[in-house]
Amino acid sequence: MADKGRRNFIAWGFGGFAAAGGLISLVPMKKAWDPLPSALSSGFVTVDTAGLPEGKLNIIKWRGKPIFVLKKSANMPVEADRDVMIGNDRFLVVIGLCTHLGCIPTYRENKVDFQCPCHGGRFDLSGTQTFGPPPKPLVIPPFEIKGTSIVLGEEGPEYKKMLAAQA
Ligand code: FES
Repeated sequence: MADKGRRNFIAWGFGGFAAAGGLISLVPMKKAWDPLPSALSSGFVTVDTAGLPEGKLNIIKWRGKPIFVLKKSANMPVEADRDVMIGNDRFLVVIGLCTHLGCIPTYRENKVDFQCPCHGGRFDLSGTQTFGPPPKPLVIPPFEIKGTSIVLGEEGPEYKKMLAAQA
């Protein structure tokens, strides 16, 4: 009887060791699966708008895509549902890829619009398609406003409000 108790104790002891060993071996595996800090940080890009000139297109690279950021001047058309407001300044913030087949539209400062070099599609300064084959407006990337900066990749309340207005 005492022998059986001893065997049970040893069996439980080995079982406990095996379970603990299994759990400990998961720690380095999890570390290997987690994205590297550099990969995590590349998901977010901060654009400080404080020094941006009016009416000039800035192209920022975010997750391999061109992002158009344009500070609108007072004489440029207002699009309440698509303009990003920072203080009293209005910005166009869109992914600069044509919604037809993905070419990069050209900003035509003199015509105050964008024209796609591939099939002639056009977009106004809110990113809305106005001519040609593009089926929908230029896509607004997820963003969050922090002070005078736009953080691309974060879904802030302003972005969520825009999405709701377009739904
Ligand atoms: Fe832009 Fe066709 S890809 S109009």
